[in-house]
Order: sequence, then C-alpha cells, then structure tokens
Amino acid sequence: MSKITAAITAVGAYVPEYVLTNQILETMVDTNDEWITTRTGIKERRILKEAGKGTSFLAIEAAKDLINKTGLDPLSVDMVIIATATPDMKAAGTAAYAATEIGAKNAFAFDLEAACSSFLFGMSVAASYIESGRYKKVLLIGADKNSSMINYEDRATCIIFGDGGGAVLFEPNTEGFGLQDEYLRSDGSGREFLHAKYGGSSYPITTDAVNNGEHFVFQDGRTVFKNAVFNMADVTVKILERNNMTKDDVSWLVAHQANKRIIDATADRIELEREKVMMNIHRYGNTTSATLPLLLSDYEKQLKQGDNLIFTAFGGGFTWGAIYYKWAYTL
Ligand code: UT7
Repeated sequence: MSKITAAITAVGAYVPEYVLTNQILETMVDTNDEWITTRTGIKERRILKEAGKGTSFLAIEAAKDLINKTGLDPLSVDMVIIATATPDMKAAGTAAYAATEIGAKNAFAFDLEAACSSFLFGMSVAASYIESGRYKKVLLIGADKNSSMINYEDRATCIIFGDGGGAVLFEPNTEGFGLQDEYLRSDGSGREFLHAKYGGSSYPITTDAVNNGEHFVFQDGRTVFKNAVFNMADVTVKILERNNMTKDDVSWLVAHQANKRIIDATADRIELEREKVMMNIHRYGNTTSATLPLLLSDYEKQLKQGDNLIFTAFGGGFTWGAIYYKWAYTL
C-alpha cells in the first residue's frame, strides 16, 4: 500500500467588512500612513465590530466559505481544530461551538494555541491524524479577533493587528502530495516580550489591571522583530537543506504576515524572487492564526498541483517553524 500523506483539498476564508485604514488610525493615535507603510507594509486591516461576535464567528464564516465552494458534507468531517490566540470564552472551546454551528455533528473539536504559529502547528497536528490513518477529514481553521485584545490608544500595537479567519480541509493522499517535512520550535523565554498579561490563570482580571490596560496585548516590538527575522529565516534555510532543496525548487514562500520587512528578510536569506512570495499584509495586517490560510485563499487560483510551498511563521511564546508542503490540486 502506498504511503498516506496529508493534503489540503479545499480552502475557505472570511474577513469582516469594516476596513480600518492607516488614515483612520492617524485620527486615533500619533502615527501616520508613511510610518506604518514603510515600517510594516500594512495599509489597512479588517475589524469585527458587531457586539457579541467573537472568533467563532470568523471561523464559522471561513468554514462556510469552504463548504459552499466545495459542497463538502459537514457530517463527513471527523475533526475540527481551531487555531487561535483569541478564543471566544474561557472554559468552553471555540471549536466545539463552531463545529456544531457548521453542522459537523460527527466531529470532535478542540482549540490549539501557539500565538502566531497556531495555524502552522495546527497543520502538523491535522496532518498527523490523517497520516496515521485514524481520520479521513480534518478541518483546520485559523481565526483570530485580535481587536478584542488591542488597546486602540497604543500606537505600538494597534497599527499591526487585524481580524480574520481561514479554513483548510486535510484529507489522505496516496500520490505523495501534502505535508512533506516540518521543523517546529518554541522558546518560553520569549513570553515576556509579547503577551496579554491579565485575564489568564496567572493573573486573573482585576479592576486595577483593566484601568491600567494590562489586559491588552503588550509587545516589545524591536525584540520580537529581531527574533522573528532570525528564526523564520533560520528554519526556512534548515528545511530546504534537510530536503536537499535550493530556492529554485521553491514555488511559493507562505510566510506569516506580521511585518513585510520580516517576510522580505526571510525571502532574502534564501535569495528568493519576490514573485514567489505570497503577500497580503497590506490588506489585512497581522491576523495571527489566520494569515497563512488567508494567503492560501488569496493565491489558491495561482497554485498548481506539485508546487513546492514553504510555510513559515513566528509568534508569541516564542513559537516558530517551517513546513515543506507539496500542493495537491490545480483549480
Ligand atoms: O506576529 C507576532 C510577531 N510579531 C511581530 O513579528 C512584530 C515584530 N515587530 C515589528 O513588526 C516592529 O518592531 C514594529 C512594527 C512593531 C515596530 O517597528 P520598529 O521599526 O521596530 O519600530 P520601533 O519600535 O523600534 O520604534 C521606532 C520609532 C520609535 O521612535 P524613536 O524612539 O526612534 O523616536 C517609536 O516611538 O518609531 C516610533 N513609533 C511610531 N511612530 C509612528 C512606534 N510606533 C509608531 C507608530 N507610528 N505607530
């Protein structure tokens, strides 16, 4: 019997309607379009404004997009994973709710959290269940409502983040397409540089914390930037070396969209031509767990069966890694 690999067979996506442009941010904090564009590459991001709608809304809409495009029967889905750093609530998984809402009544569902690497790590988990032969259809959704934990008076963070969701379906493949290799890492000493301190179990929410804004995301941007540049480039080189590949074997770099300068530095490290670098940060900003599936959705029509994709991400924790993936279909 041929070896089972885990391949993405469908993609869906959703971003909220409200567009928060650099020009609007200029009226909110001391910043300007020129600074944001040159330092990050971001021009606008989407924000989920409606009260009471959380990350599950983004995830459900992304999954529905996938279902509508492909005619997938939700009852055939075995497992739903939501990669997210912004779950709807504590003590009740976002994925369980979303799975029920999309009609995946035969699936079990759970959330997976590794900050901006959540979707990348989720690919590893989803693929493992498929490769083992245990399940046949795993729906992996990356979704984050970052606006729920951003201080819109803090120019260091509010210019970066946006909301969105993307979904992919993993299925078994016997022709060698799908996930080929992975190089995933984490380093907990990084958490002091990027976190939302209050509201978790170490520091339950208090009135003082809220008054001081300590429930919002804090980022030491410069330190995170340096670590992201070094580590994303490093794992990208390592995964190529380990698979005896050169940049000429790479069809696409699918890199987490946190800062255009980080993505450019990763591409430069392997001397990859810019036309092979997927980019949509200018439209969505950093959507945390949604950046990779949103890229796949935006570029799906350009992808061809057999294309070699290098996924890479870096995020809070710190968490980072790279995945070598062979695309399974041409639309
Ligand atoms: O996805 C998870 C991982 N996250 C990341 O990968 C993000 C990594 N970090 C970054 O992308 C960048 O560090 C930022 C975009 C957050 C910041 O860019 P930077 O080039 O590292 O800026 P900086 O923090 O070193 O600040 C440079 C200057 C400072 O002014 P002085 O001290 O040089 O006078 C800041 O006060 O820019 C100032 N500044 C701003 N000016 C206008 C910081 N934020 C802003 C702003 N508008 N929004």
